[in-house]
Amino acid sequence: MTANSSGSRAADCAHQAAIADQFSRQAELFAAAPALHNEAALDLLVAAAAPLPTDLSLDVACGPGSVVVAFARRVRRAVGLDATQAMLDQARKRAARAAAGNVDWHLGDVYDLPFAQGAFDIVSCRFAFHHLREPAKAFAEMVRVCAVGGRIVLCDAVASDDAGKAAAFNRMERYRDPSTVEFRPLSALRALFREAGLGEPAARFYQVPAEREALVALSFPAGDDRAGLRAMLDEAVEGDRMGVNARRHGDTMRFDYPAVVLVAVKG
Ligand SMILES: C[S@@+](CC[C@H](N)C(=O)[O-])C[C@H]1O[C@@H](n2cnc3c(N)ncnc32)[C@H](O)[C@@H]1O
Repeated sequence: MTANSSGSRAADCAHQAAIADQFSRQAELFAAAPALHNEAALDLLVAAAAPLPTDLSLDVACGPGSVVVAFARRVRRAVGLDATQAMLDQARKRAARAAAGNVDWHLGDVYDLPFAQGAFDIVSCRFAFHHLREPAKAFAEMVRVCAVGGRIVLCDAVASDDAGKAAAFNRMERYRDPSTVEFRPLSALRALFREAGLGEPAARFYQVPAEREALVALSFPAGDDRAGLRAMLDEAVEGDRMGVNARRHGDTMRFDYPAVVLVAVKG
């Protein structure tokens, strides 16, 4: 084993530990956060996939299951997969509350999906690619388990095209949630589709509104330094340093995560 490969394996293990730590702690709060279950945003994502009542859908890194439950209303069966058991526990509760009986849950890894080639008509992923060290590898798995003629849907927040603002945004996000790898610019997410042979994806955009105190309450920052996180958010206002429309609002500050839904048909 080379020094590099053992170094990178150690970094992978440390990252998996950060994912397990963050999302086990975040699961309950995340499952209750209204911005993450906004129906209009879920409708936008589901509509982008053009679901049919006969379809089988898969949402990877499904977290507390809002995307799966939204698909379940429109498809024959909706499947969710996540690496964090606490998130799947929340997902099961959400499905039970929605009386969604046509759902299945799997504990698993986006890099090694336990499904056959072409098994699904729709394969989606929302708000998880910024946690992935190898996005192209995960995307290739999504494409592998999608049938020819099926739809691949990728949704995430995007970083500014201004490199300085993107770096400031990523510094804050990695501090806020140390399992974050990087929010990438729109061009990098589009490139995943082209490089996987899917051509240029169609894009739909929306904003996820955020407010400082609600966000701090949802977060487990490095060293539990909530004061430091607040300060970083406040500093984002002047000159909109993170490129997220940061603005003061009374005693607090607000900003918007710029989200994109990209979709392409597997040819
Ligand atoms: C920010 S949450 C998003 C949850 C959900 N997709 C949503 O939009 O509400 C990110 C999720 O990615 C999951 N995750 C991170 N790395 C993963 C991996 N390698 N395999 C499967 N799930 C993973 C985490 O457990 C967490 O539930």
